[in-house]
Amino acid sequence: QNVGPRARRDKYSVLLPTYNERENLPLIVWLLVKYFNESGYNYEIIIIDDGSPDGTLEVAEQLQKIYGSNKILLRPREKKLGLGTAYIHGMKHASGNFVIIMDADLSHHPKFIPEFIEKQKEGDYDLVSGTRYRGNGGVYGWDLRRKLISRGANFLSQVLLRPGASDLTGSFRLYKKHVLESLVERCVSKGYVFQMEMIVRARQLNYTVGEVPISFVDRVYGESKLGGNEIVSFVKGLLTLFATT
Ligand code: GDD
Ligand code: MN
Repeated sequence: QNVGPRARRDKYSVLLPTYNERENLPLIVWLLVKYFNESGYNYEIIIIDDGSPDGTLEVAEQLQKIYGSNKILLRPREKKLGLGTAYIHGMKHASGNFVIIMDADLSHHPKFIPEFIEKQKEGDYDLVSGTRYRGNGGVYGWDLRRKLISRGANFLSQVLLRPGASDLTGSFRLYKKHVLESLVERCVSKGYVFQMEMIVRARQLNYTVGEVPISFVDRVYGESKLGGNEIVSFVKGLLTLFATT
């Protein structure tokens, strides 16, 4: 495909946080490799496993043998330390000038990545956020309870924080690396609220945000780590942000 000389210098570091994703990892990695090869962009995949008891790390090691250690980087941690800090940990090892953050359970399809990249180039955006709540975006496979939680979290956050983006809690995003670093420096939250804080801070710092509609498909294998505890800490985090921004 046609990618100009500037695009050839760009490199995209994909951060994949995993906790018990043994069954999902081979397919997500295969799809990532496929779409990057087809579009011709330079990339690396950084897997941040938090000591998954299901053997995710062993699967990741196999994948590294298949695709090469320049394409698949393993940056595991001893134990489950939370999604937000997993991204920060992964980011420190990223060699690309762009960083893509996504879930490893196939809820975020790699086919959207070329659209993220094109959108970023279109407006030289500092960050591009996938959105389930605009255009052709949507959610598939969630029960009513989960839909209400997500809608509720977004609605509350919209009202309290007015961040000027349509999907605050989604975690399929592309950042300029230096932008991600400067946002992370200012971020205080560690769990699921991290995504929302990032976009609120982006707005405060006058970073530009592009949006790409995505479909979020609920996982087939394994289970969500979003439990009651995460919801309580989300609401706490939201209120803290409201009080401090
Ligand atoms: N390393 C690491 N450590 N990875 C984790 C941890 C952790 O403590 N907790 C979750 N993950 C990984 C999972 O393995 C998966 O790849 C990804 O993070 C998302 O976790 P899920 O448990 O599948 O999240 P979800 O589907 O309930 O939530 C999704 O939607 C939320 C609301 O829109 C995610 O995209 C969330 O980030 C999002 O806020
Ligand atoms: Mn999921």
